Amino acid sequence: MGGQSRLYLSDSSPPLYSSSARRSLFLRVGAAFFAGFLICLAVVARYASNRSCLPFSAFAALLPTDVGTPEWHQYPPAEPTNAFPSAFPSNVGYPGRTQAGAEPGVAATAPAYPLHSNVAHLVPPTRFSQDNTKATTKDFNIFRSWGSSSPWYSIPRGKFGVDSSPEAPDTCNITGVHLLHRHGARYPADYASGSGPSGFASRLSKNAENITVTGPLSFLDNWTYKLGSEGLTPFGRSQLFDLGVSMRMRYGFLLKNFSETSSLPVFRTDSQTRMLDSAHNFALGFFGYPLEGQYQQEIMIEARGINNTLAPYRSCPNNDIPNIGYRGAPLTDAWNAVYLRDTVPRLQRHVDGFELGVRDVYAMQELCAYETVALGYSKFCELFTEKEWEGFDYSSDIHYWYSVAWGSPIARAQGIGYVQELVSRLTQTPIETHNSSTNATLHNTVTFPLGDSLYVDATHETVVLNVLAALNISSFAAMGQLPTDHIPKRRTFRSTELAPFATNVQFQLLSCSTEPDPQIRVIVNDGVVPLANLDGCQDHPDGMCSIHAFVDAQKENIRSTDWNFVCNTNLTLPDGWKTTTGYPV
Ligand SMILES: *[C@@H]1O[C@H](CO)[C@@H](O)[C@H](O)[C@H]1NC(C)=O
Ligand SMILES: *[C@@H]1O[C@H](CO)[C@@H](O)[C@H](O)[C@H]1NC(C)=O
Ligand SMILES: *[C@@H]1O[C@H](CO)[C@@H](O)[C@H](O)[C@H]1NC(C)=O
Ligand SMILES: *[C@@H]1O[C@H](CO)[C@@H](O)[C@H](O)[C@H]1NC(C)=O
Ligand SMILES: *[C@@H]1O[C@H](CO)[C@@H](O)[C@H](O)[C@H]1NC(C)=O
Ligand SMILES: *[C@@H]1O[C@H](CO)[C@@H](O)[C@H](O)[C@H]1NC(C)=O
Ligand SMILES: *[C@@H]1O[C@H](CO)[C@@H](O)[C@H](O)[C@H]1NC(C)=O
Ligand SMILES: *[C@@H]1O[C@H](CO)[C@@H](O)[C@H](O)[C@H]1NC(C)=O
Ligand SMILES: *[C@@H]1O[C@H](CO)[C@@H](O)[C@H](O)[C@H]1NC(C)=O
Repeated sequence: MGGQSRLYLSDSSPPLYSSSARRSLFLRVGAAFFAGFLICLAVVARYASNRSCLPFSAFAALLPTDVGTPEWHQYPPAEPTNAFPSAFPSNVGYPGRTQAGAEPGVAATAPAYPLHSNVAHLVPPTRFSQDNTKATTKDFNIFRSWGSSSPWYSIPRGKFGVDSSPEAPDTCNITGVHLLHRHGARYPADYASGSGPSGFASRLSKNAENITVTGPLSFLDNWTYKLGSEGLTPFGRSQLFDLGVSMRMRYGFLLKNFSETSSLPVFRTDSQTRMLDSAHNFALGFFGYPLEGQYQQEIMIEARGINNTLAPYRSCPNNDIPNIGYRGAPLTDAWNAVYLRDTVPRLQRHVDGFELGVRDVYAMQELCAYETVALGYSKFCELFTEKEWEGFDYSSDIHYWYSVAWGSPIARAQGIGYVQELVSRLTQTPIETHNSSTNATLHNTVTFPLGDSLYVDATHETVVLNVLAALNISSFAAMGQLPTDHIPKRRTFRSTELAPFATNVQFQLLSCSTEPDPQIRVIVNDGVVPLANLDGCQDHPDGMCSIHAFVDAQKENIRSTDWNFVCNTNLTLPDGWKTTTGYPV
C-alpha cells in the first residue's frame, strides 16, 4: 500500500455504493414528487414522532439522505486554471537580518518537562465536555479511551513503575537520543474491504430505503461517510509537527554534535503515504521550513517481500496466516459481544428497518474516534457511556496484545531487526549477519550512519509494540493474558498508553557523575520504563541501566530470537497455547 490513496468526488463513488444508493435516491425523489400527500401520510406513520405533514416537510423527510454514502473531496484540483508558478517565485531575496539563537534543551535545563495532552483542535462529546483536557469523572477522558486510535499524551509520572520523568536527573547530561515514533492520526485502513466504519456505512446505505431512525440516532438521517482511507488527517499532521517541535525543544542541543563534525542527521521512515507525510511534518516541526540542507530523509520501501525493519511484517510470511498474525481478531470479537451486549438493544430501540449487530455498534464507536481525529467532532461519540468507552479501549488492548505484542508468537521476531539496529548504533558496530528484517543494502555509512547523537525513525504502532516485546521489556506483560470476558482490575498493558497515534519511544543516553558507565533509559510517551528485568540491569530510581549491560542483554535477545523459524516455518500452535514473551517457545 505504498501509493497515495485516491479520493473521489461523491458522483464517482466506487461500485460498492453507486447502484443501490442511486436507486434509492431515484425512488425517493420520484415518490415524493408523484405521490404527494399519500406519501406524506405514510411518512408521518413511519417517522411517527415529530414531523409535520406539510408537503415540503414530507419531501424533506423522503429526500434521500444518501445515508452512509461517501462524501469525498479532491484537493488540490488536478488542473487549477490560475496556477502560474513563475509569478510566485519562492525566493525573492531581501530576507532581512536574523541571528540563530542557542539550541534549546528543556530536557536538560528545566526542572520539569512539558506535558502533552495533545487534543488541541478536537471537540469532545458534550456529555463529557466540561474540560476537554482533563478527566470528566475521576479517571475518565474520552480522548484516552480509544486504544490505538487515541492521540498520544504524556503518561503520568510513575505510571510504568519508575518514579522519574524524562528530564535528565540533576547529576546527568544527555549525550544522545534515539527516537522511534508512530505516524499521526490517520483515516481507517482500506476502504474497499467493507469492514469497520466503511462496512457499517455501506450496510446502512444498502438498506437506507427502509430505515428510520429516532432520538439520539436521528443524526443518521443526514449522515454521510466522510472518511478517506489510510492517509494522515490534518490533526495527525499537527501531532507530528508538534512532536518535532517538542523534540527540538528538548534535545535541540544535540545538533551541536553535527555542527562540530560538519554532518547532517539521517532520519528514516517507510514509504507509505502517512508515514512519509508524518516524517516530513516531524522534520518541519523539528527543523522548520525550508528543510533543504538541514537533514537527510531515508525512505525505506514498505512492500511485500522487502526487508524493512520499520515494516517487518512485509517480509515475514507467517504474519499473513490468520491464527498467527491476526490472533487477536476472534478474541476481540468475543470481548465485543460481551461489553456491547446491552448496548446493541439500547441503540436498536432507535432504529427501525435495520438489525444492528455487535459489529455495527463497534463500528459506531470506531467512527467516533476516526471522525473526531479527522473532522474534529463526531456525533457518534455522544451515543456511548463511560463504561462502553472502557470496553472499547480494552477491545483494542486485546487485539494488540495477541496480534503484535507479548501475547503473539511472532512479535519478538518482528521487532528484533530494529533491536539489531539499535545495538549497532549503540556500539558503533555494523551488523554482521542480516538474518531478520534488516536490509544489507541500506546498511552503509551513508544511509545508516553510526556515531550520531540523534536518530529519528518513523514507523507503525504495531512495530513499536514488536520492538518493546523484542527488547524484553517485560513490565507491560506482568499481568499476563488478557481475558475476553471481563476487564481485569490491574492492567499493565494498555494500547492507549503504548500504541496511540504519534506514540513515541525515546532511548535517552546519559552521562552521570553518579554512575561510572554511560547510561540508557527507555521512555515511552514520557513514561519512564523499568529495565530492571534485563540481565545485568539493576533496579534504578530513574530507570537507568548501563549501556554496556543493556547491549549485552539485547545481544542475548538477538541470539535467542530466530526470525527464520518464526517467519518461515510451519508454526503450529496447539489449542490453549499462550505466551507472554512474544515468542513461540
Ligand atoms: C425494503 O423493504 C421492502 C418491503 O419489505 C423489501 O421488499 C425490500 O427488499 C427492502 N429493501 C432492502 C434494501 O432491504
Ligand atoms: C440535516 O441537515 C440539515 C441541513 O444541514 C439540518 O438543518 C438538519 O437539522 C439535519 N437533521 C438532522 C436530523 O441532523
Ligand atoms: C533493500 O532495500 C533496497 C532499497 O530500498 C531495495 O531495493 C531492496 O529490494 C531491499 N532488499 C531486500 C532483500 O528486501
Ligand atoms: C533479507 O532478509 C533475509 C531473511 O532474514 C536475509 O536472508 C537476507 O539476507 C536479507 N537481505 C538483505 C539484502 O539484507
Ligand atoms: C554530543 O556532544 C555531547 C556534548 O559535547 C557529548 O557529551 C556527546 O558524547 C556527543 N554525542 C555523540 C554521539 O558524539
Ligand atoms: C555535563 O556537561 C557539563 C558541560 O559540558 C560539564 O561541565 C559536566 O561535567 C558534565 N557532567 C557530567 C556528569 O558529565
Ligand atoms: C528477559 O526478561 C525475563 C523476565 O523478566 C528475564 O528472566 C530474562 O533474564 C530477560 N532476558 C534478558 C536477556 O535480559
Ligand atoms: C543472527 O545474527 C546474529 C548476529 O548478527 C546472531 O547473533 C544470531 O545468532 C543470528 N540468529 C540466528 C537465528 O542465527
Ligand atoms: C503445517 O503443520 C500442520 C500440522 O502438523 C499440517 O497439518 C499442515 O499441513 C502443515 N502445513 C504446511 C504448509 O506444511
